[in-house]
Amino acid sequence: MSESFASTAVLADAELGPFNTFGLAARAARLVVLRTAADVRRLAMTPGWARTSRLVLGGGSNLIFTGDFAGTVLKVEIAGRRLVAEDDVAWVVEAGAGENWHDFVRWTLAQGWPGLENLSLIPGTVGAAPIQNIGAYGLEMAERFESLDAVELEGGEARVFRAADCAFGYRDSVFKRHPARWLVTAVRFRLPKRWAPVTRYADVARELEAQGIAQPTAQDVSDAVIAIRRRKLPDPAEIGNAGSFFKNPVVDAATHARLAAAHPMLPAYPQADGGVKLAAGWLIEQAGWKGRDLGPVGCFERQALVLVNRGGATGADVRRIAQAIQADVRARFGVELEPEPVFV
Ligand code: EPU
Repeated sequence: MSESFASTAVLADAELGPFNTFGLAARAARLVVLRTAADVRRLAMTPGWARTSRLVLGGGSNLIFTGDFAGTVLKVEIAGRRLVAEDDVAWVVEAGAGENWHDFVRWTLAQGWPGLENLSLIPGTVGAAPIQNIGAYGLEMAERFESLDAVELEGGEARVFRAADCAFGYRDSVFKRHPARWLVTAVRFRLPKRWAPVTRYADVARELEAQGIAQPTAQDVSDAVIAIRRRKLPDPAEIGNAGSFFKNPVVDAATHARLAAAHPMLPAYPQADGGVKLAAGWLIEQAGWKGRDLGPVGCFERQALVLVNRGGATGADVRRIAQAIQADVRARFGVELEPEPVFV
């Protein structure tokens, strides 16, 4: 197999522990490292490839391995970042799918191109960002998205996706709904020249105020977001985790009214479509889980929405605590929590 991919590395029976931020031990029958879009097309055109089960791996920050993977893991390491266009209103900046997301954000800021600062310090790669439409502190990636390049993994057709083709939603996209159908090779972002800071998220406004900054630059907002994240969220380099473990559930107005009457402190965010988004972290904390462990997996003491690996956890351990939390939140509030990471 290795002969047909000049710039790729192919590993048999590969250890996946280093490639998932939860630090779960698992092995893959094959791991292929892809360094160019041409590598991806060549692989996708290989005879017999269509029948292979496969998994696309970026930074591994949104994955829970529940066992060994019998197929081929595609590790995307496509590098590169550049300005591809500029007009009166925006810079269009492109990055290879394998670039580290946070390094890319800081690089755009250093170039004087604002727009991604609220998404600072999110773990993972540029190519993974559109898959679940990463979002934080009042901004979703979709708001800065221009287009992306992808290769269809059966057949090898290269395709450009504009925003409308991606069907972005809250932590959702066409790529999340069709896992491993396309492999993202590069993403372009539209960064506004008439920039205004996004400080509508209370934590960000508070942090800037505490620092005495009334008119923040993009760099200031980035620094504020980094400070908040460091305070609230565990660093995957120190303690295994996959960020928010559940999505914030969206309920209908009647359900929200019932819950709000029973729980006056319930945080709630009305949505454009009439639904109301609830804070999963609050529900989990109220259900008594914050800071509690079940086996080697814990519900993080500073943010109940995050599950952490206390050491030696398996995917089954993660599933066990996740189901226990779901059951308690269901029993107490009648609300269904949906995991955010992908179980493999
Ligand atoms: N809350 C609690 N207890 C907790 C955690 C939160 O009561 O243990 C309450 C907070 O007091 C607040 C509300 O819940 O009233 C929301 O909390 P927070 O601002 O911390 O944000 P979140 O809704 O818990 C979401 C994203 C995060 C993102 C932050 C900031 C999801 C699933 N999570 O968390 O994204 O960083 O907002 O924008 O949407 C991720 O997706 O991996 C992630 C970390």
